[in-house]
Amino acid sequence: MTKKELIENINALRKEKNAIILAHYYQEAEIQDIADFVGDSLALAQWAAKTEADIIILCGVHFMGETAKILCPEKHVFIPDMEAGCSLADSCPTDEFERFINENPGHTVISYVNTTAKVKAVTDIVVTSTNAQQIVDSLPKDEKIIFGPDRNLGDYINKLTGRNMLLWNGACHVHEQFSIERILDLKKAYPDALLLMHPECPKYLLEIADHIGSTSSILKFATESQNKEFIVATESGILHQMQKENPDKLFFPAPPEDSTCACNECFYMKMNTLEKLYLCLKNETPEIFVEEEIRVKAVKPIKAMLEISEKCGL
Ligand code: 13P
Ligand code: SF4
Repeated sequence: MTKKELIENINALRKEKNAIILAHYYQEAEIQDIADFVGDSLALAQWAAKTEADIIILCGVHFMGETAKILCPEKHVFIPDMEAGCSLADSCPTDEFERFINENPGHTVISYVNTTAKVKAVTDIVVTSTNAQQIVDSLPKDEKIIFGPDRNLGDYINKLTGRNMLLWNGACHVHEQFSIERILDLKKAYPDALLLMHPECPKYLLEIADHIGSTSSILKFATESQNKEFIVATESGILHQMQKENPDKLFFPAPPEDSTCACNECFYMKMNTLEKLYLCLKNETPEIFVEEEIRVKAVKPIKAMLEISEKCGL
């Protein structure tokens, strides 16, 4: 099937089945272009919570599909490739995280959305990188907090909020593999470029950034800035929207350690293709299911996140 036929078929099927296609900024450009909505992980959860569609196709990774299913148990939620996981979610096995919680009683448990449904089920409040600071700030100053699984985001939020949260030692393989030497070389080549970075990057990298924020925050910053050149240190899929919204500006992907690659891609995110999206919509598989016992526990911290976010205008 040609790309044009794939697009025509996807458009016909989504209409016929009352399906909505939600895509994360890290998806392939052609998936972003066909989606009903493109956003960061908070916005995808917010869209899933309010959609009236019967079917949600979540073009992202597994935990994003799970979050949509937890919020909308009556809907069918599909992801184009069931193998699209997340190294950060994998760095936090439920039994080990539960042991950590039990070893540190009296703590409120905050988990990044990049976790499995089972980890969310033992969590008090879920956060994303868009709302983590506001959610931590909404808690009393003396509240003892466990933050998991991203040690880099946790460390950064500790610094922003003046807290001393106990951190789980997890990380994302994409954001940990940027090369500081190659970023500095890029800065030398483009001295006017501002360095935009995701808070999943380690501290030694965050220290040289001009702006730190979630994918949507990086996009907003670049759009509102008077500057014309930017080096972008997060998964390179975001450059598609940045370029689309700012055709007169230049965006350079920050390079990884591996000197054969110019940009840094999440291979899980890139498992989804236009063809798999078409097949998923046509065959209604692979479907995301969450055990009801886990779902009823996991929905509480996600709803808590959505409520605080709404109060904060996020
Ligand atoms: P955002 O919440 O910024 O979209 O990040 C999601 C993610 O997976 C980052 O690696
Ligand atoms: Fe997970 Fe990292 Fe990929 Fe985001 S970029 S989905 S945190 S592995």
